[in-house]
Amino acid sequence: MTHPDSKKPLNPMQIITIDGPAASGKSTLGQRLAEALGYLYFDTGVMYRALTWLALQQGVSMQDEETLTALAEKVPIDVTPPSKADGRAYDVWIGDQDVTWAIRQPQVDAQVSIVSIYPGVRRAMSKQQRRIGLRGCVVMVGRDIGTVVLPEAGIKIYLDASVEERARRRYEEQKQREEKITYEDILHNIMERDRVDSTRAIAPLRPAEDAVCINSDGKGIEEVFEMAIQIVRSRQEQVG
Ligand code: DC
Repeated sequence: MTHPDSKKPLNPMQIITIDGPAASGKSTLGQRLAEALGYLYFDTGVMYRALTWLALQQGVSMQDEETLTALAEKVPIDVTPPSKADGRAYDVWIGDQDVTWAIRQPQVDAQVSIVSIYPGVRRAMSKQQRRIGLRGCVVMVGRDIGTVVLPEAGIKIYLDASVEERARRRYEEQKQREEKITYEDILHNIMERDRVDSTRAIAPLRPAEDAVCINSDGKGIEEVFEMAIQIVRSRQEQVG
């Protein structure tokens, strides 16, 4: 048996990246594509969220770049198949603590973009993401996967939607778990995250030059999935 990290020729067409702004439907699309293709689904936002949650737990200031960077370099984040049937697509662990839902709390939503600005934090996270992505047969979702983490990926999708539509979708999702949340809070949070994610100096949110852009306004999950799987299949067939 060979270890997944052992050297083997890379097939770029087996690396699919999906980037786009908060709540554009990347996770749903990524999961559907990975399932259809038998690939690994990896949501990189989970790593930034886990780090943010841990920093909040430990009372680390979001301005304390040095401590956050040190934390990013040693935090033992793991993503494994779902252990509970409570709507989760996977488990997220920090050490032996299940943080799957904790990383979706509004406090994390409000701070995660700030934590993601710091170059040392991004370096630590990107390194791990790249190692996993280069194993191939992966659908990797985030903000900078096609541009920075895996520029050699053969299939890149940039998924977008209007801020109102994204806020509405996130509100529908979160009101089940967080009763106190309002649509306005979510709209405000997403606008702020869009601003921070797309204006940061390192790895800002933007489509890769070779990405195919899909706007999901007014489209259901099925329609977006059909568009994306067509893109994947035609790219994979072209290359043989
Ligand atoms: O996809 P998400 O909403 O779970 O991501 C949370 C935050 O993590 C997002 O606001 C910015 C950051 N992020 C990032 O900077 N780069 C990535 N590849 C993924 C997420």
